[in-house]
Amino acid sequence: MFTKSLQEAINEQINKELYSAYLYLSMAAYFEGQNFGGFSNWMKIQYQEETGHAMKFFAYLHDRGSTVTLKAIAQPPVKFKAPLEIFKQVLEHEKEVTDSINKLYELALKEKDYPTQSTLQWFINEQVEEEKNATSIIQTLEMAENSPVSIMMVDRQLSARKAG
Ligand code: FEO
Repeated sequence: MFTKSLQEAINEQINKELYSAYLYLSMAAYFEGQNFGGFSNWMKIQYQEETGHAMKFFAYLHDRGSTVTLKAIAQPPVKFKAPLEIFKQVLEHEKEVTDSINKLYELALKEKDYPTQSTLQWFINEQVEEEKNATSIIQTLEMAENSPVSIMMVDRQLSARKAG
């Protein structure tokens, strides 16, 4: 059975995904203001991906005959530090999202809701990818060691990221 508590938890996850989108869009705006077009591009694509995650849950609730209840999205931070610190913030945020997805999965297991378990598998794999991507950029930025030229090169690399 698709229990009320599981439906509410998925509604809550929609809000978390939309907050993630908003957070990355705020980071994109910050990078844009710093003339880091590549980092901003990466964040804008991340924003689109997070919106896509929210919409997957949105569609899933409707597919199961449930309803979507949208809540207020919290204001994200607007001031940030250097690129390395920002990507560390991304990784920390993604770890929190992973934790939230894992808790949803535990609930779906407890309630023996097999379709939700199946849907969540996609998100579990996606979180591995999300953490891997952030970690890889952190490692590259650590190698750049505050050298402006090297950081500009990483920025240029990230301008190549495409949606999808
Ligand atoms: Fe929707 Fe970045 O996890």
